[in-house]
Amino acid sequence: MILESDRGSIRVAAAILRKGGLVAFPTETVYGLGANALDAVAVRKIFEAKGRPVDNPLIVHIASRKQLAQVVHSIPAGAGILIDFFWPGPLSLVLPRSQHIPAVVSAGLPSVAVRMPDHKEALALISAAGVPVAAPSANRSGRPSPTSYRHVLDDLSGRIDAVIKSDFCRVGVESTVLDLTGSRPVILRPGGVSREELERVSGQKIYLAGIKDISKRPISPGMKYRHYSPKAPLYLITGSEYRRRRLISAFEDFYRRRGKKVGVLETFMGGSSILKHDEGLFASRLYEALRAFDRLGVTVILAEEKSTAGIGLAVMNRLRKAATRVLRA
Ligand code: TXA
Ligand code: MG
Repeated sequence: MILESDRGSIRVAAAILRKGGLVAFPTETVYGLGANALDAVAVRKIFEAKGRPVDNPLIVHIASRKQLAQVVHSIPAGAGILIDFFWPGPLSLVLPRSQHIPAVVSAGLPSVAVRMPDHKEALALISAAGVPVAAPSANRSGRPSPTSYRHVLDDLSGRIDAVIKSDFCRVGVESTVLDLTGSRPVILRPGGVSREELERVSGQKIYLAGIKDISKRPISPGMKYRHYSPKAPLYLITGSEYRRRRLISAFEDFYRRRGKKVGVLETFMGGSSILKHDEGLFASRLYEALRAFDRLGVTVILAEEKSTAGIGLAVMNRLRKAATRVLRA
C-alpha cells in the first residue's frame, strides 16, 4: 500500500503498526522500515523482509521525551545535554535497554539504540501509533539506504505492508550512533551529527570506534557486514587530486573504448561546482546516485576520496564500505 502523508493516511499507517505490520516511513536521514518495538513477533518480520542478519540490532524511534522511559532502563550522566541539543535529529544514543523492549530488537545486547527523528510525518506516525517504533533503514540488507519511496519499492515491494510517500530525505545518510554505555563516549557509526558538533556540545572528547576494536568486540555488530553496495563494482580512488583525476580519465578511456558506461560519482550529479563545495548536498544525494548508476547499467563506478571533516566522515565511511577496492592513484 502506497500512502500519502496526510493525517488520514498517517492514521492508517499507525493502525498497521499497532496490528504488528511493517510500514516504511521517511525520516530526515533515510527511510526506515518500522514495526512496533514492543512486539517481538512484529520486529522479527523486519529481519525477514530485509534479509538482515539477526545479530544486527535495530534503532528504536520515539516521538517524545516521555517515550524514552519505556525504551531505556536509565539515562547516564552526559546524555541529557546531547538529548536536549540534538533531538529531534540524526543522533542515535546507545543506552541501557529497558525490560519493555524485547531482546530481538537489540540482537540480545543489554543496550538499545534510540533516537527522535527530525521529521514531521515520522513524528506524527510514531505519536499516532502510541508505541516506540523499531526501524532499520528500509533497504534489502547490503544495498544503499533508500532516500525515496521509489527506492523502498525497488527493494521491498511485496515484502512490507505499506510505505509513506516522499521523494526526499534532507540529510541523506544515516544517524550518528553514539555509545554512552561505557566509560567514554564512542561513535560506533559516523552520521548526520558530526564528531566536531558532539565534542563542542558535550565539552568532552568523543572517540571513534576503529575497525580493530570492532573485530575484538563487536560493539556495533552492523559494522562488520559489507554495506551500502550498488550492483556495479565501486572503486574508491585515493591520492592527490591531480593523480586521482588522471586515474579516473584513464579508467574512462579504457571502458568507453570498449563501449561500456563508467559512473563517476562527483560529475554524475552535474555539478562539478556546487557538489564539490557543499558536503551536505553531496551527502544528501549519495545513495540516490549509487542507485541511479544501477538503473543506468554502468559497468564500474569511480568515487574520489574526500575530506573526513564534518559530514565527510560519514560519507567516507559509507564509500569505504561500499567499495569493492580502494585504489591509490
Ligand atoms: O538514520 C538512521 O539511523 C536510520 C533511520 C531509519 O533512523 N536507521 C538506520 O538503521 O540506519 P540501521 O539498522 O540501518 O542501522 C543501525 C545501526 C547498525 O550499525 C547497528 O549495528 C547499530 O545501529 N546499533 C543498533 N543498536 C545498537 C546497539 N544496541 N549497540 C550497538 N550498535 C547498535
Ligand atoms: Mg542500514
